[in-house]
Amino acid sequence: MIGVFDSGYGGLTILKQIRNTLPDYDYIYLGDNARAPYGTRSFDIVYDFTRQAVEFLFAQGCPLVILACNTASAKALRTIQQTVLPERWPDRRVLGVIRPTVEDVGAMTHTRHVGLLATPGTVNSHSYTLEINKIHPDITLTERACPMWVPIVEAGEALSDGADYFVRKYIDDIMEADPLIDTLLLGCTHYPILLPKIRKYAPEHVRIVPQGQIVADSLKDYLRRHPEIECRCSKSGTTSFLTTEATDKFDPLASLFIGTSVHSTKITL
Ligand code: DGL
Repeated sequence: MIGVFDSGYGGLTILKQIRNTLPDYDYIYLGDNARAPYGTRSFDIVYDFTRQAVEFLFAQGCPLVILACNTASAKALRTIQQTVLPERWPDRRVLGVIRPTVEDVGAMTHTRHVGLLATPGTVNSHSYTLEINKIHPDITLTERACPMWVPIVEAGEALSDGADYFVRKYIDDIMEADPLIDTLLLGCTHYPILLPKIRKYAPEHVRIVPQGQIVADSLKDYLRRHPEIECRCSKSGTTSFLTTEATDKFDPLASLFIGTSVHSTKITL
């Protein structure tokens, strides 16, 4: 199975597009809902939690794990790739979501002014700035942390009237900081769940970029380029869902976000 990990519900927005693009594979989704949000936690804690989740998915037999979480990709991916894999799991692979997103943004912006909406953890890591400077040095990136958005989604309030205040506030802030922005990256996998409200408050000419399809296309390309990993991924078209929270809490919201019914299993990391 291909493992897909997020701190909570957000990774479902990535899994949904991955399953549409690559329906034949088997997937195992793990949401660490009991310990979400990660976005306000320190570097060491996000690294520890992410490593535990990845090792759990490896122990289930996953040859490949996608960190469908920007915060985990920003704070844990590199160390896992550089130390945990070579030392303990040399035949397994872990991929993140930041690099493919940055690669694609170059073809999207005309003004070369891009905005990033993400968790405080991702913004403070400066991972997007570093990658943008490497790949598209002509792009000016303005970052805005949105600390209230993940708690709103995890609380099941994404479509409620109360969410409007904070959606509008962060969008107004970033557009005021750089009015030339023509492309807004949703650099947190929870944020597509707020898309109807984000579209409502963003200026009409601004392109909103969720990551799901970008990550799905990049995974497809990765599997094509790495037959040694691809041949170890089983193909029966199944998905299993794991959560660290109570399943009766996880299942209804997860079903809403992924668009099919979800019957999860509770696990402890
Ligand atoms: N969905 C995650 C991300 O993409 C993390 C959200 C959180 O737990 O704060 O950053």
